[in-house]
Amino acid sequence: MAEESGKWVLMVTAQTPTNIAVIKYWGKRDETLILPVNDSISVTLDPDHLCTTTTVAVSPSFDHDRMWLNAKEISLSGGRFQNCLREIRNRACDFEDKEKGIKIEKKDWEKLHLHIASYNNFPTAAGLASSAAGFACLVFALAKLMNAKEDQSQLSAIARQGSGSACRSLFGGFVKWIMGKDEKGSDSLAVQLADEEHWNDLVIVIAVVSSRQKETSSTSGMRESVETSLLLQHRAKEVVPKRIVQMEEAIKNRDFSSFAQLTCADSNQFHAVCLDTSPPIFYMNDTSHRQFSTNMETCFRIISCVEKWNRSEGSPQVAYTFDAGPNAVLIARNKKVAAQLLQRLLFIFPPSSDTDLNSYVIGDKSILHDAGIGGMKDVEALPPPPEINTVPAQKYQGDVSYFICTRPGRGPVLFSDESKALLNPETGLPK
Ligand code: DP6
Repeated sequence: MAEESGKWVLMVTAQTPTNIAVIKYWGKRDETLILPVNDSISVTLDPDHLCTTTTVAVSPSFDHDRMWLNAKEISLSGGRFQNCLREIRNRACDFEDKEKGIKIEKKDWEKLHLHIASYNNFPTAAGLASSAAGFACLVFALAKLMNAKEDQSQLSAIARQGSGSACRSLFGGFVKWIMGKDEKGSDSLAVQLADEEHWNDLVIVIAVVSSRQKETSSTSGMRESVETSLLLQHRAKEVVPKRIVQMEEAIKNRDFSSFAQLTCADSNQFHAVCLDTSPPIFYMNDTSHRQFSTNMETCFRIISCVEKWNRSEGSPQVAYTFDAGPNAVLIARNKKVAAQLLQRLLFIFPPSSDTDLNSYVIGDKSILHDAGIGGMKDVEALPPPPEINTVPAQKYQGDVSYFICTRPGRGPVLFSDESKALLNPETGLPK
């Protein structure tokens, strides 16, 4: 290590996107290594709107590994954190910064302690894949800090051991997590199918129905499904392998009809597997909450709105998909359709009277502009969607917390700008 050991703090800051699965991962064949029972495919979401930023620092003055999530210190003792830290430390290489007088040899990394600070720009554990962005960012940032030579796919196999879906956040665009065959999981990793520019017509609108922590974690939920659901076995063996081939083809050809049909069918089958689990899991609501029936109804209203519209158009305009929570992820075929979608959503789910439109529709505001909505007056003047045949058309004010407009986005990036760091460069403590 450097002569003046104790004086320096070396740090790296990275930003990593979250992702939404269009062919779902549900069920593990190995719980510790996090090996899935089927391949899955996801779309990476634009990190400008949904991402994790993580700063990792190392210094001889740190006396133990510490981590802060959204400015609150959390424990690093969990097996998943420990597995990721161990795997990256094993791959650390020599590092030297002559200017700063820092020299770390491969063997030194084991003795050096880490400080990690992470921040999500969206609600943690609300079913918006925060653990995916979080573990992907941790692994990516640590690999850069420790000068590991692994490529993105090899890093994805490490992030996978933090949280399965995290492996898909190592790439932008469209990503496949190959389940692999190896018992040790060496071939269970993510690959990029196409980058974010490949199909840049797509617009994604997320209806955040609940920002609460979900009640049944994905981990325990999928364990129970593996143990009790026959539908899961059929899905993993018979259904998903065919869907993966079809989805890859749909993405390659930018075939929105197939893409939407497969996405909706796979989301619905995932929730059917949850219902087929004993005891059944209802992810489209949160049962501990007074909002139980409201959230469930909101999900069904969104599904029904999209299904009716798609049918009336004769071909799919919008795809919907739900993860382990009630938030709806809606993928529109292009910007024009996204504006029409937002008009429909705002008609059915107007903001409550005390909510400002500006905080009700966040992310890419140009969709709101394209929809011709500049203020509450425009929302009030929206006509009912023509395909709704109940008169008068019902409105459900306040049932959606807010909408995020986004699009397919890029993979992880490093920030060289120190102002983006979450740790103080002198003390290595949160800023
Ligand atoms: C429904 O990756 O959160 O979002 O591997 O146990 O951490 P662990 O589970 P996690 O599960 C995500 C499940 C899903 C579908 C998906 O993202 O493919």
